[in-house]
Amino acid sequence: MLRLRNTGGTIGFVPTMGALHSGHAALLEEARRRADVVVCSIFVNPKQFNNAADLAAYPLTLEADLEVCRRAGVDYVFAPNGAEMYPGSFDTGLVAGRLAQGLEGASRPGHFDGMLTVVMLLLSVVQPHFAVFGEKDYQQLLLVRRMVQDLRLPIEIVAMPVLREVDGLALSSRNARLSAKGRQTALALSRALVAGQDVLQLGNTRADDIVAAASAVLEGTPGVRPSYVAVRDALTLGEVDDVTKAARLLLAAEVDGIRLLDNGPLFPGVSWRP
Ligand code: PAF
Repeated sequence: MLRLRNTGGTIGFVPTMGALHSGHAALLEEARRRADVVVCSIFVNPKQFNNAADLAAYPLTLEADLEVCRRAGVDYVFAPNGAEMYPGSFDTGLVAGRLAQGLEGASRPGHFDGMLTVVMLLLSVVQPHFAVFGEKDYQQLLLVRRMVQDLRLPIEIVAMPVLREVDGLALSSRNARLSAKGRQTALALSRALVAGQDVLQLGNTRADDIVAAASAVLEGTPGVRPSYVAVRDALTLGEVDDVTKAARLLLAAEVDGIRLLDNGPLFPGVSWRP
């Protein structure tokens, strides 16, 4: 990759765990628009799974993934195996800081340490000029940005908005595991975001009221097991009492025993719909 970097062209990188869907395709297409050379990695990183059953259930669809990459104009696919990424001698790990506290960090101990470790390793192997991440995993995006700043990596992190089905469901590899009924039930997540957003649109900036409106949708939908609903500062993920500047409404819930995430922006005075 160093040779590639020395040729002078811009290298764009999209790290993935495979099971590529149209959300990933959009990240790859964005990289294609901006870069001379596009690299996609496909690696299901065991270090970021705190639940063995979740890792075992993760869909492996390499042939289909390669087709998505081909269609998106990817130049190189990096699909290492576990031993290539983590040889027996591997003994280094990153520890995520304050941004990892709460939200996904609270529900999945060690997840963000493993995620940062693999992202750092991938950035170091691929040596891109920029890497594209989705806002769907909003806490992950902020953690990666923080790491790149803290470690002074000469890499731009490009964020892409959450991509959705026409009915509002946020695109996720996990959606493929939902039953037909679960797929319908899962629409409660984007409806909860709308309910929270509506509170703000009516001029009520109190975070508690926004959370209450979103929670009511999740709690009122049979088959949804809410994990958290939170309003946080859009940049620091710090607690927010009043939405007077850019904030984020973030939520997670289980449907069919599958953990789903969603989030959306909260800007006072700006209307937004998933
Ligand atoms: O978002 C993902 O798919 C993963 O967390 C990532 C960034 C590829 C690291 O394994």
